[in-house]
Amino acid sequence: VNRIGMLTSGGDAPGMNAAIRAVVRKSIYHGLEVVGIKRGFDGLLKKEFVKLQLGSVADIIHRGGTILHTARSEEFKTEEGQRKGVNNLRDGGIDGLVVIGGDGSFKGALALAKLGVPVIGVPATIDNDVGGTDLTIGFDTAVNNVVDAINKIRDTATSHERIFIIEVMGRHAGHIALYAGLSGGAESILVPEIPVDIDEVIFKLQRGINRGKLHSIIIVAEGAASGLTIGEEIKKRMGQETRVTILGHLQRGGTPTALDRMLASCMGAKAVDLLLEGESRKMVGIVNGQLVAVDIEDALSRKRALNRELWELAAILAI
Ligand code: F6P
Repeated sequence: VNRIGMLTSGGDAPGMNAAIRAVVRKSIYHGLEVVGIKRGFDGLLKKEFVKLQLGSVADIIHRGGTILHTARSEEFKTEEGQRKGVNNLRDGGIDGLVVIGGDGSFKGALALAKLGVPVIGVPATIDNDVGGTDLTIGFDTAVNNVVDAINKIRDTATSHERIFIIEVMGRHAGHIALYAGLSGGAESILVPEIPVDIDEVIFKLQRGINRGKLHSIIIVAEGAASGLTIGEEIKKRMGQETRVTILGHLQRGGTPTALDRMLASCMGAKAVDLLLEGESRKMVGIVNGQLVAVDIEDALSRKRALNRELWELAAILAI
């Protein structure tokens, strides 16, 4: 490879900038040129190319979001769009591509790879739902954002002796809910991977109140149920006041944690190494603390399973 293209796609994730920095610096270190493609696959179709220099990525390692911007492209899902993408890369002299994003983005990456473009994926999504890696960039920061919110809500929950329901992101996965719920000491954690048992939730709430608990916190993953519905149900059944907080996009912003910056730096650099080795259709992953290269198709076919043991532990510790 001589000129690497890079784009961020799908929902942004804290740490994407650190990954962009790593790709740029590692490429230049090896004498390669780097072209940033703005606004994901949409920008690829519009040839929104910018040359990235060492200085282009200065002062971004600590910033959330992505300096390349991101988008979810409908046109790129079509075969015609994908062919146009390949032609645009060729016109730009780009002979290797790094795609930073989640599984939606990797479907696009795979399509390009099948059309002959060397492509390497770097997993970045707060949802941590990508197969083939224990962690995605942005998950740790999002979990810390949620834990921070739980800490604050606890103060007011205790003062008013209230039941709080906190709805968190994660799309169809419950990883954010599980990690934040366990770290934040939630009474119940509702996730899409395990059927919601409202009787159990109420039993636990009642048990807590009976032993003198001043407040209760229930974490609901958006993919499991609506926080508002759960709040209404508890109010109806227990005759107790509830308050619902939907954390929304607060979870996706802010300075990335050291862990996310580490992951992003290592994964971004590894993506460049893989392109230099002539690899394609691979995604960088971290498995048992080791950087690995996994087949993108493989990663796409395996959703990360929820850690049930952790979920059971959270239930035990909330007794
Ligand atoms: O995939 C990341 C994510 O934040 C999900 O957790 C959430 O369901 C979705 O993106 C929200 O998407 P948008 O920012 O387009 O509303």
